[in-house]
Amino acid sequence: MTYHQHDLSYDWLGIHLENPFILSAAPPTDELDMARDGLAAGWAGVVLKTTSVEGNPVRLKYPMMSSFGTASHKICGLGNIDLISQYHINDVCDRVAALKREFPSKMIAASIMGSRKEDWQSLVWQLRRAGADLIECSFSCPQGSMGEAPGRMLAQSVEATEKVARWVKEAAENTPVLIKITPQVTDIVEVARVLKRAGVDGVTASNSVPALMGVDIETLEPRPSIFGAGAYSGMTGMAIKPLTLRTIAEIARNVDIIISGNGGAYSWGDVVELMAVGASNVQFCTLPMHYGFGVIRDLTSGLAGYLDRKGFAGPMDIVGKALSRIKGQEELVAPHSRATIDLDTCVGCGNCFRACRDGAHRAIDWDSEKRQPSVDRDKCVGCAQCMQVCPVSAISIREEFGDNVHTFAYGIPGEHGR
Ligand SMILES: Cc1cc2nc3c(=O)[nH]c(=O)nc-3n(C[C@H](O)[C@H](O)[C@H](O)COP(=O)(O)O)c2cc1C
Repeated sequence: MTYHQHDLSYDWLGIHLENPFILSAAPPTDELDMARDGLAAGWAGVVLKTTSVEGNPVRLKYPMMSSFGTASHKICGLGNIDLISQYHINDVCDRVAALKREFPSKMIAASIMGSRKEDWQSLVWQLRRAGADLIECSFSCPQGSMGEAPGRMLAQSVEATEKVARWVKEAAENTPVLIKITPQVTDIVEVARVLKRAGVDGVTASNSVPALMGVDIETLEPRPSIFGAGAYSGMTGMAIKPLTLRTIAEIARNVDIIISGNGGAYSWGDVVELMAVGASNVQFCTLPMHYGFGVIRDLTSGLAGYLDRKGFAGPMDIVGKALSRIKGQEELVAPHSRATIDLDTCVGCGNCFRACRDGAHRAIDWDSEKRQPSVDRDKCVGCAQCMQVCPVSAISIREEFGDNVHTFAYGIPGEHGR
């Protein structure tokens, strides 16, 4: 494999990042040795797993992990019933100091969760004293927050979000603060607006999504099953990327606030997508939990090659580049659209024919002798359902509007590091 070189470094919130890839607050950053190995492998920074004040017992239940997937992707979505770290603030401060000594040029951040004002502020003061470059506040643990409304996510209350964000920023002074929010709200823009008003430095958008990962149809036990019973999980990984993209885009289109992207990034191409809609770096958890810290080499090399190819000077050039293309459905033009099938690429599986026959406009004919589809141009409206079921990306949509022609097509499966 060719490894591309390109300077991926930039300054962000006054912090030097050697690349836009950060390990999020989660198991990969819970143990000092693991955070150390991640940084040594080449990740630009870590957010240590969420901690709280002494005296808040964290009782974990195992097994805590489950997943849903397909034959080809066992982990489309990863589920966990984990809580915050069992390490309290003193341990985390020791780790921040140790990692800062060992990796002075990397971003060493920590994540906190409190209940009372004095807890939140004391967590911040202790981390500042330990030398944390940035403090992230978890307002979105799917198992619920402590304090305000136990069992409910803090970021689901706009009032509580603003109030606690003010407490934290007051204590943090010049140390950058990110608030980690949830997409599970009616109006994500309102949440971002109050955070901007509260004076925090940015948002992490976002976190795991509350889910029920599955039910074993033989035993009827939910997944994961602990003595036959289960709880709702936080779902992470590639299944949640579209939710993350929408969350980031919606914030970036409406509120001028720094966004650290998180949720579902599984490749360097996903990072480009999250940045193109407004994130200025991307945090990862499920990908390194799946493949190990070494994936950083593919991420940096893939992104470097992309920047070279597109003539971008650095990662920040990507930020927000797709935003002007995201519009309300009513603002889009109404072109004359038709499916086009590239028969040289077609493998004759018949998926497009069946999908169109039973789910769209009955506009694809099927030659069963040659195992070949053909588009009936009078019936086809270019809805693109056939394109979704084609396993080899042989179908594209040709759109005509006045004298202009545009093509909607997917790349080759496996492109962009997936
Ligand atoms: C087992 C597990 C534990 C997690 N613990 C925390 C946590 O303590 N604090 C937090 O803010 N996020 C936590 N997360 C969420 C991740 O930091 C991240 O936001 C989420 O996994 C989405 O990113 P991903 O799709 O790249 O995994 C946890 C995720 C997993 C899988």
